[in-house]
Amino acid sequence: VSAADRRRFSGTRCVVTGGLGFIGSNVALALADAGAEVTVVDALVDGHGGDAANVDGSAVRVVIADVGDVGAVAPVVTGADHVFDLAGQGSHIAGARDPERDFDLNAVARLRFLEILRRARPGGPTVFASTRQVYGRPATLPLTEDHPPRPTDVNGVAKLAAEYLHLLQDDGSVILRLSNVYGPRQHLRRDDLGVLPVFFRRALRGEPLVVFGGGADARDALYVEDVVEAILVAALTPEAAGRVMNIGHEEHMALWRMAELIAAASPAGPPVVAGDWPLEHARVDVGSVYTSSSLATEVLGWQPEVPFDDGVARTLEWFAQHPERYDG
Ligand SMILES: NC(=O)c1ccc[n+]([C@@H]2O[C@H](COP(=O)([O-])OP(=O)(O)OC[C@H]3O[C@@H](n4cnc5c(N)ncnc54)[C@H](O)[C@@H]3O)[C@@H](O)[C@H]2O)c1
Repeated sequence: VSAADRRRFSGTRCVVTGGLGFIGSNVALALADAGAEVTVVDALVDGHGGDAANVDGSAVRVVIADVGDVGAVAPVVTGADHVFDLAGQGSHIAGARDPERDFDLNAVARLRFLEILRRARPGGPTVFASTRQVYGRPATLPLTEDHPPRPTDVNGVAKLAAEYLHLLQDDGSVILRLSNVYGPRQHLRRDDLGVLPVFFRRALRGEPLVVFGGGADARDALYVEDVVEAILVAALTPEAAGRVMNIGHEEHMALWRMAELIAAASPAGPPVVAGDWPLEHARVDVGSVYTSSSLATEVLGWQPEVPFDDGVARTLEWFAQHPERYDG
């Protein structure tokens, strides 16, 4: 979105669910910067990336509530110009450990939230953050949207259900299937995180980066600013309503290479070492996976701008200035 387009949010009322989390807070802050009146709804779910510090010092208003809590959420969404539904559980490991909780957080809470939206705010654009994990193990690469969704774990099934619940809405939400995202404000204070946050956490702490299973599998990764851009432009593009689009990076590389680049860019310069797959990880792994975003380029005019090495440098720089965010 050009600076002029971002100003189209000026004076609008925007609601961001999951807005204390990694992606949500980056979106909320960008909207506030553009002059929007922003309210985030976040339950600070245990084990997720939500942190009140993510929006500290900004004009963003915070409502601590579950997205399915009608008493708290209906007044917030009534009359909202834009709704960004970015709350949810992203961890496949957490989903495998407690499938019912995953389904509650990703699907059931979403059903309740969408019911609140339907009554309190019929129509109007909603953007939903889904995941490329709904495809499961790819039959062909890069993944395009016509590849059948065959999720291999409950987290993927719950996200797919959430997509369809969104698509049932009259307002035709925009579904964005995100690849792995990294960058400032990502939660790095635990070790049971996704592969990129674990690499960053270890690189910042000067601990060896452990790559499971040889690290030959490829991934694409998105710097969070590119994701914010895709989410904002999706809200401003009427033709995007009802569409399901991949948001990924054309630059993809072996996980081992990603680890090497992160380790080398970190001042501590820790080694990259091979490790055996822990069973829990092996169960939810899908091999090489990366997506094509050509549909998003066509519909939204969006494409990622930040190459991996640049995004890594910017991420390490931000965390170097916020040691309390990875040293817990
Ligand atoms: N980070 C990634 O690499 C990535 C990739 C693909 C998709 N996604 C999806 O994007 C969304 C946001 O991811 P993130 O990395 O910002 O995660 P995050 O854990 O940093 O943020 C999620 C936020 O949602 C909140 N939340 C969860 N369920 C809620 C509920 N029922 N009511 C209110 N708040 C709730 C949590 O408290 C947390 O603050 C997730 O749904 C995730 O699956 C993320």
